[in-house]
Amino acid sequence: MATIEHTPRGNWNTKLGFILAAAGSAVGLGNIWRFPTVMADNGGAAFLFIYALLVLIIGYPVMVAEMSIGRRTEKNPVGAFKALTKNKLFIVAGFWCVLCGIVILSYYVIIAGWTISYFFEQIFHYAGWQEWAGWVADTDNGWLNAGVAILFMGRTISVILGGVSDGIERAVKLLMPLLVVIIVVLIVYVLFQPGAGVGLKEYLVPDFSAITPDLLLAAMGQAFFSLSLGMGALITYGSYLSKRENIPEAAGYVTGFDVGIAFLAGLLVMPTIYMAQAQGLVIFDEDGNLVAGAALIFQVLPELFHEMGGLIGLFFGATFFFLLSIAALTSSISLLEVPTSYAIDEHGIRRKSAALIIGGIITLISLVIAFDTSLIDTLDFIFSDVGLPLGGFVICIFLAYFWKTENARLELREGFADIDSHWFWPVWKIFIQYICPILIGLILVTTIWGIFR
Ligand code: PHE
Repeated sequence: MATIEHTPRGNWNTKLGFILAAAGSAVGLGNIWRFPTVMADNGGAAFLFIYALLVLIIGYPVMVAEMSIGRRTEKNPVGAFKALTKNKLFIVAGFWCVLCGIVILSYYVIIAGWTISYFFEQIFHYAGWQEWAGWVADTDNGWLNAGVAILFMGRTISVILGGVSDGIERAVKLLMPLLVVIIVVLIVYVLFQPGAGVGLKEYLVPDFSAITPDLLLAAMGQAFFSLSLGMGALITYGSYLSKRENIPEAAGYVTGFDVGIAFLAGLLVMPTIYMAQAQGLVIFDEDGNLVAGAALIFQVLPELFHEMGGLIGLFFGATFFFLLSIAALTSSISLLEVPTSYAIDEHGIRRKSAALIIGGIITLISLVIAFDTSLIDTLDFIFSDVGLPLGGFVICIFLAYFWKTENARLELREGFADIDSHWFWPVWKIFIQYICPILIGLILVTTIWGIFR
C-alpha cells in the first residue's frame, strides 16, 4: 500500500467537537430551504418516504466511507485519492469534488444572503416601514442579492482563515438546539391555523403512485446534499478526526441530527404552504409547479411571522432567520474548506492566501447568479442532484475496489475495537461494495436517459 505523507493538521477538540462540526456541515439550508422546496415540488409524503430510505441505505454508508478515507489519509479529496491509489482517473474524480464544492457554494451564498435580507425584512415590517420591508424582500433585486451574498461570503472566508475552529463547535452546540426549539414552537402554532391540516396530510400520507424516476433522482440528490456527501466535505472533515473516535457511531449521530431537523422543517413548511394558500397566496401554477421556485420558503415563512403579528411575530421571525443564517454558515464553511485544503495540501499555498483567492473566485461566480437567480435551479440540478451522487458512486468504487474494504476495516477498527465481531461490518461492506454503487448508478442512468430521450 502507498505510504502517505502527513501534513501537520489541526484536530477537533473533543469527540463531541467532530460530531458537532460534521452536524454543522450537514444541517443548513439543505434541511430548511432545499428539503421542503424539493418535497413540495415532488409530491410530499412519497418524497419523504423515499428520501428517508435513501438516507439509510445510501447516505449513511457513504458517510462512513468518506470519514474513514479522510481520517486514513489526512487529506482533501484530491490528495486522499492520490495517497491511496496510482490510478489517475481518481484524480479527475477528486477535481470533480472540488469543483462541486466551488459551484455549490456560489449559489449557496445567494440563498444564505436571503436569510440576512429577511432578518431585516422582519424588523422593517414590525417598525411599519413597509417600503423598506418590500425592498429588502425582493429576491429578484440583483444588487441586493450581490450585497448580502458578499456579506455572507466574507463571514465564511473569515472563519476559514482561522482554520478548523472552536467557533463552529460553539455555534452548533448553542444555536442549533435553539433553532430546533423555535421550529417546534412554530409547528405547534401553524397546526392550529386554517388550511394547515391539508399540508400535514400531504406531508405524512404518501401517495406511492407519485414515485417517478424524477422523484428518485431528486430524493437521492437531496440525501447527498443534506448530508454533505459526494464532494469530499466529510473526507476533509474526517482528516482532522482523531484515531480514538468511533466513525460509524459519529456518522450515525450526524445522520440522525440531519434527518431529524429536515423532518421538523418539513413539518413546519408543508402546513405553512397550505395555510398561505388558504389565505390566497398563489403557491402552485396550473401544472402543479411551484410559482416561487427556489424562493418558496422566503415567500411563505415571512407570511407566517406576519400572521403571528406584533412583537411575538418579530421575535420568532428575526430569530428564525438569524439562526438559519448561522446554520448556513456552519455549512458554507465546510464547502469552502474543501477547495481551500486542496490548495494548501497539494500546492503548498498558505491558508490565508488559499482562502482569499478561492473565496474571491467563488464570490465572482455568485455575482453572476445574483443577477439571474434562475441559474440556481440549473446549477443545483447539475452539481447537486447529479454531481454529488456521481461523487458518491466514485467514492464507493474507490473504497471497495481500489483502497479495498480490508484496509477500510483496519481504519475503522481504530476507535471501534470490536468491529470484527459486530454486525455493522459485514452489512456495511455489502452496501459499499454492491448496494450503494448499483443503486446510485441505476438512478443516475435511468433519469439521465429519460432526460435525453
Ligand atoms: N449539507 C449542507 C446543507 O444542508 C450543504 C452542503 C452540501 C455542505 C455539500 C457541504 C457539502 O445545507
